[in-house]
Parts: sequence; C-alpha cells; structure tokens
Amino acid sequence: MKSFSGQVLGRLTALAIGVVVASSCSSDKITSKPDVSLTTPPAAAGNFVGYTDTLTKQTVCGNCHVDKQLAWESTKHANAWADLQANSHANASCEPCHTVSSNGNGTTDTQVGWVSTKDSRYKDVQCESCHGPGQDHVTSPTLANRPLASIAVDTGAQFGAGCGECHTGTHHGFADEWLQSAHAKTQEAHALGNAACVGCHVGQDALLAWGVTTNYKEASQEGTNPMPVTCAVCHDPHGGPNAGQLRFRIDVADTTANLCMKCHQRDNRAKAPLSKYGPMAPEGPVLIGQAGWFPPSYTGSTNIVGTHGSSTNKDLCVTCHMGTTTVTDSAGGFVDNYHGHTFAAAPCLDAKGVPTASGDCDISQRSFAACATSGCHGSPAAARSAMTAVEQRIALLDSALNSQLVKIPASEFSKTTMNTAIGAKFNLQLAEKAGSAIHNPFLIETLLTSSIQQVQKDYGFAPTFNVDLRNILPETAKQYR
Ligand code: HEC
Ligand code: HEC
Ligand code: HEC
Ligand code: HEC
Ligand code: HEC
Ligand code: HEC
Ligand code: HEC
Ligand code: HEC
Repeated sequence: MKSFSGQVLGRLTALAIGVVVASSCSSDKITSKPDVSLTTPPAAAGNFVGYTDTLTKQTVCGNCHVDKQLAWESTKHANAWADLQANSHANASCEPCHTVSSNGNGTTDTQVGWVSTKDSRYKDVQCESCHGPGQDHVTSPTLANRPLASIAVDTGAQFGAGCGECHTGTHHGFADEWLQSAHAKTQEAHALGNAACVGCHVGQDALLAWGVTTNYKEASQEGTNPMPVTCAVCHDPHGGPNAGQLRFRIDVADTTANLCMKCHQRDNRAKAPLSKYGPMAPEGPVLIGQAGWFPPSYTGSTNIVGTHGSSTNKDLCVTCHMGTTTVTDSAGGFVDNYHGHTFAAAPCLDAKGVPTASGDCDISQRSFAACATSGCHGSPAAARSAMTAVEQRIALLDSALNSQLVKIPASEFSKTTMNTAIGAKFNLQLAEKAGSAIHNPFLIETLLTSSIQQVQKDYGFAPTFNVDLRNILPETAKQYR
C-alpha cells in the first residue's frame, strides 16, 4: 500500500492554501504543473471540483495526476457532453450520465455537481464521476480522504457505485447484460483463497496478475470482498492504446496477449495423472490450435487452426460471443440495444426477442446473427446448420472413442506416467467441452480420430466401424477402417 510522503504532503498543502504551486511534486507518477490555479467550486456542488479549465478539458485532479489526465482525455468520457448536445433528443434527463454528478461514485445526494449548479466545469464524465468528490483530497490531503474509485458493479440492490450506474437501461444496458453473465459470478467457492485459482476467478487478483497495482476501494479486499470479472477488469477506466478502453487486445491469436485468452486457457494439454476435472478453460488454446494430446503414431501437422481461429475472423472470441444488435418489435419500434455483454454465443432470446445469457433452449430458438454479420456465414440459418452438422460429426467420433475407452482397464487411467488411455480420455473430454466442436472442429476431429487409431493399436482392439460414421464421415472413417 502506498502512502503520502511528508514531502509530497507539504506541497499538497501549499497548493491547497496558497492556490499556486511553483515547483513540481516529486512522486514518479504525479507531477503538478507550475502555476496551477484552483478556483473555489460552488458551495452547492457537494465538494465536487470538476474542471480547472473547461475549454481545454483540464481537470483539477489532472493537474497533479498528469498521466491519468493524458489517458482520460482521449476517451469518449471526455467528450460526453458534446456528444449529448449533438443529439436531437438531448434534454435535462440525459444529463446526469453525461456530466459529473452522483452517478458512478456512490454519492447518495443527487443534488451535486452539474445537477445542482449547471456550472460548465462539471460537463463530461470526469475523474470524480468515478472517484467521487475530491475537494477534501485537494485541500487537506490525508490517507483517509484519497478519493478511491470502486471496481464493483453490483451492490446487491442497484448498480450503486460504479460503471453500472450510467451504463444501464434499455439503451446502454451493459451492466444489466453483464449481471446475467458468468463473469458476474466467477468467484468459485473452492477457487477462493487458492493462489492457483484466484488470478482468473477473482477480479482483484486478475488485475494484480496483469500488473495493475493501483489503488481502489476493493484493492485489499481479495479475501473478504472478492470481486468477479467486473467492467474495470476488462476495461481500463482511464483508457489506453486499445479500442473500447480495453486492457488488452482482442484481435491477436496469442494466449499471453489476448484479453479473453489470458483467462480462458488453463488445462489444454494432457498430463498424468489425469485431472479429475478434465480440461478446464481450454477455449483459447483450442481456438488457435494449441490444445490436445497428439498420439505417438500421429504423423500429420500439430498446428491445426480452422477459420474461426484464423485472421479471417479478426476479433476471434468477441465475434461470436459479443455480437451486438438493435432489437425492434414486429412494427419496427425500438425495444432494446443489445451490447453482447452476456458473452453468450448463439444466445437464446427472451419473450421480447432480446438475447439472454442462456444457451438453454432448442437450437432453432437461438440467434446466430453474430455468425452472419461477421461476413463468415451467408445467413444465420446457414451458421445454425453448420453448427448442427459439426456437432453431429464430433458426437459420432466421441461415441466411437468412448466405446473403446470403456474396454480399457480402469488402472490404466490412474497411472502417473503418460499413456494412451490418459491421452485419449483427455481428448474425449476436450471434445465434449461446450464449444470445443465449434471453436476448432478440425483440431477436435483430428484428435479424436488419431486417438481411436492409437487405442486400437496399443490395446489390440478390433477396428470399430460404425455404419453412421461411414455415411457421415467418409473421409475420416476411411482412416481407421
Ligand atoms: C495537488 C495535487 C493533487 C491533486 C489536485 C489531486 N491529487 Fe490525488 N493524489 C496526490 C498525491 C500526492 C497522492 C498520493 C500519492 C502517493 O502517496 O502515492 C494522491 C493520491 C490519490 C489517489 C490514491 C492513489 C494511491 O496510490 O492510493 C487517488 C485515487 C487520487 N489521488 C485521486 C485524485 C482525484 C480523483 C483528484 C481530483 C478530485 C485528485 N486526486 C487530485 C496529488 C493530488
Ligand atoms: C457518469 C456516467 C458514467 C460512468 C460512471 C461511466 N461511464 Fe462510461 N460512458 C459514459 C458515457 C455518457 C459514455 C459515452 C460518451 C460519448 O460517446 O460521448 C461512456 C462511454 C464509455 C465507453 C465507450 C468507449 C468507446 O470507445 O466507445 C466505455 C468503454 C466506457 N464508457 C466504460 C466505462 C467503464 C469501464 C466505467 C467504470 C469504470 C464507466 N464507463 C463509467 C458514462 C459513464
Ligand atoms: C443512464 C445513464 C444515461 C442517460 C440517462 C443517458 N445516457 Fe447517453 N450514454 C450513456 C452511456 C453509458 C453511453 C455510452 C455507451 C453507449 O454508447 O451505449 C451513452 C452514449 C450516448 C451517446 C453517444 C453514442 C455514440 O454514438 O457514441 C449519445 C449521443 C447519447 N448517449 C445521447 C443521450 C441522450 C440524447 C440522452 C437523453 C435522452 C441520454 N444519452 C441519456 C448513458 C446515459
Ligand atoms: C470479459 C471482459 C469484459 C467485461 C467484464 C466487460 N466488457 Fe465491455 N467490452 C468488452 C469487449 C471485448 C468490448 C469490445 C466489443 C467489440 O469490439 O465488439 C467491450 C465493449 C464495451 C463498450 C463499447 C465500446 C465501444 O467501442 O463501442 C462499452 C461501453 C463497454 N464495453 C462497457 C462495459 C461495462 C459498463 C461493463 C460492466 C458492466 C463491461 N463493459 C464489462 C469486454 C468486457
Ligand atoms: C470511468 C471511471 C474512472 C474515471 C473517469 C477516472 N478514474 Fe481513476 N480510477 C478508476 C478506477 C476503477 C481505478 C482503479 C483501477 C485502475 O487503476 O485501473 C482508478 C485509479 C486511479 C488512481 C490510482 C492510481 C494509483 O497509482 O493507485 C488515480 C490517481 C486516479 N484513478 C486518478 C484519476 C484521474 C486524475 C482521473 C481524471 C483525469 C480519473 N482517475 C478518471 C476509475 C476512474
Ligand atoms: C479475468 C479472467 C477472464 C477474462 C479476461 C475473461 N473471462 Fe470469461 N470467464 C472467466 C471465468 C473465471 C469464467 C467462469 C465463471 C464460472 O463459471 O464460475 C468465465 C466464463 C465465461 C463464459 C461462460 C462460460 C459458461 O460456462 O457459461 C464465457 C462465454 C466467457 N467467459 C467468454 C469470455 C470472453 C469472450 C472473454 C473476452 C472478451 C472473456 N470471457 C474474458 C474469466 C475470464
Ligand atoms: C488461467 C485461468 C484460470 C485458472 C488459473 C483457474 N480457472 Fe477455473 N475457470 C477459468 C475459466 C476461464 C472458466 C470458465 C470457462 C470454462 O469453464 O471452460 C473456469 C471455470 C471454472 C469452474 C466452473 C466450471 C463449470 O463448468 O461451471 C470451476 C469450478 C473452476 N473454474 C474452478 C477452478 C479452481 C478450483 C481453480 C484453482 C485450482 C481454477 N478454477 C483455476 C479460468 C481459470
Ligand atoms: C466461431 C464462433 C466462436 C468463437 C470464435 C469462439 N466461440 Fe466460444 N462458443 C461458441 C459456440 C457456438 C459455443 C457453444 C454455445 C452453446 O452451446 O451454448 C461456445 C462455447 C463457449 C464456452 C462454453 C460456455 C458456453 O457459453 O456455452 C466458452 C467458455 C467459450 N465458448 C469461450 C470462448 C472463448 C474464450 C473464445 C476465444 C478464445 C471463444 N469462445 C471463441 C462460438 C465461438
């Protein structure tokens, strides 16, 4: 935990009471510009300080926190007022989300900032929108009054103190969608407190693992108040080089650099002893052809990547799991903007036609819109039948391999050194993971067929030949006939 140094504190006090600072602060991250003038904010503002200079968008905070000012300036938050005014529907009810107000920072009194003063220094979504009122911090800094932001989204009752207070509703329901998603509940009971798990399952620990050591309300509460994968885990609140303020890119096929793959990559290669859970979170490596057990007698390429994991599908996971749509009713009236933040691929729709987090409905009821808008499939219907065909193909191979594995003595699977039984079982489990068949059908098919061959060879089983397989998979079936 960082603390105020006496030296910096002295300067802060000088700034506060003297109003003008002549030299710069000494913290490596924090510099105050010479001649920073702070005008006293209106009394009705509730201790929000806003801009030093509205025209140049210089925030009071940013005079000292120069790096944050620079990053924030290039985000859409810094242009929220102008964009609102450019819209023909702009009215007073829109303003609390496009200005510094009680929204986003847990302030319970709504009569603060722009709302109570209409002073132009409170235009745009500024530092205090998330950090809360900063006047105390600026005038009399103590450890206790540092205006820490929160990374929480769901406070139980309402989207009370963070991004969700603005990013909500039928037009901007990011938080509403996220709340339905598995990312809103990643804190698996048996993952908590286990150093081997928390880096992906607990928001605070994911940030730490990625080198984000900054301070915020929940920063030291990994144990007592573990956060799930909230907005601020994926998005950098202050912006950065990536589109959409994302902390990492989404368009690189690299498990160390891709936002989704940084977590969605755990057990992707077979090892002895076989894990009782099977492969976990193997999605990234499966997609880009870095998963599975290749049997010793397999001689083909081990670098098998399908279209879904290739540069043809530039946004990789996001194309399929975060498709966006505007939902209209049968008369063409607006119903909802869907932002893809349930993270469901081919989602089921609710009664109004809005995508949900659930994949628990008949395939005919699911939306394949994302597969067609990306230009990959000619139509949603074509993508739906492609998925059905692939899943049927893989299911047949699954059952063919399984019918052999059940004949292998159980002791083979509990060996502590790698053998064919363990490798083949791992491949079967990998193939049966939800999504694997879609993520990389060619890899999965190869792993299954080559496993079947190796099992036959090593355990001396007669080649199984299945009539259905011959009809549906003539090419693959030929290989082990
Ligand atoms: C006069 C300079 C100055 C101004 C203006 C200022 N701060 Fe600070 N702020 C500091 C210093 C110095 C620290 C202590 C840094 C440290 O100890 O590492 C600090 C600490 C913080 C921290 C905690 C960082 C940590 O490591 O715990 C936050 C958050 C913060 N400021 C936000 C703000 C916000 C929001 C505003 C505007 C309302 C603001 N600051 C205005 C100088 C300033
Ligand atoms: C006070 C309301 C408010 C709060 C709090 C808020 N936002 Fe926003 N956000 C907005 C508005 C308004 C816009 C649109 C601005 C525009 O386009 O002019 C926006 C835009 C964005 C964008 C769009 C960037 C882009 O490139 O299109 C992202 C990403 C974003 N916010 C993320 C966040 C995250 C993450 C948080 C919490 C850490 C957050 N916001 C908190 C109001 C808010
Ligand atoms: C509940 C908070 C909230 C209210 C109220 C609100 N907005 Fe927004 N607005 C946002 C957020 C969050 C974004 C950014 C996310 C997005 O684009 O969906 C945004 C983005 C925008 C944008 C930029 C979209 C773009 O194309 O980049 C415009 C324009 C806009 N709002 C206009 C309005 C108008 C007009 C109203 C009132 C009728 C309004 N907003 C009311 C939160 C709000
Ligand atoms: C698991 C990671 C993840 C989480 C959690 C997440 N987002 Fe996103 N968000 C993304 C990605 C990836 C995109 C870009 C989608 C795209 O390019 O189509 C995005 C896009 C956005 C955008 C639109 C940016 C733009 O360029 O138009 C906004 C606004 C946004 N998210 C806000 C939020 C808010 C608010 C939350 C929390 C309620 C949240 N996000 C949670 C990954 C995430
Ligand atoms: C959209 C919400 C949001 C906005 C806008 C925002 N912040 Fe932050 N800020 C956060 C969150 C969340 C954190 C903690 C996570 C992180 O640092 O990424 C944070 C962290 C910080 C820290 C702690 C740094 C440290 O080293 O511990 C400082 C200082 C800070 N912000 C200052 C600012 C300043 C200055 C601005 C305006 C120029 C600003 N913030 C705008 C949400 C926001
Ligand atoms: C910080 C780690 C982290 C990041 C980053 C992350 N996820 Fe996740 N994701 C998880 C965890 C952990 C779960 C499992 C939650 C559970 O079931 O307990 C999960 C669950 C999911 C699920 C639902 C799985 C199910 O069984 O319902 C999908 C789909 C998903 N993530 C897609 C994505 C996509 C797409 C991205 C990138 C935009 C992404 N994730 C980024 C950690 C992450
Ligand atoms: C490298 C990141 C990562 C690590 C480390 C990690 N997990 Fe996960 N875990 C995920 C992701 C991502 C998901 C969701 C995707 C999936 O289920 O395939 C998940 C899902 C889960 C699930 C839900 C499975 C389901 O079907 O709903 C459990 C339970 C779980 N993990 C437990 C653990 C435990 C216990 C540990 C530590 C021993 C751990 N995880 C370590 C990323 C990770
Ligand atoms: C070509 C589209 C596509 C791509 C690319 C893709 N997925 Fe999937 N994913 C799917 C489909 C379809 C399912 C199956 C959904 C179902 O059956 O409910 C799925 C299932 C999943 C599941 C299992 C949980 C669930 O929602 O059923 C997770 C977790 C997942 N994908 C994560 C990812 C991650 C992480 C990436 C990137 C590494 C990724 N996916 C890339 C389409 C895709």
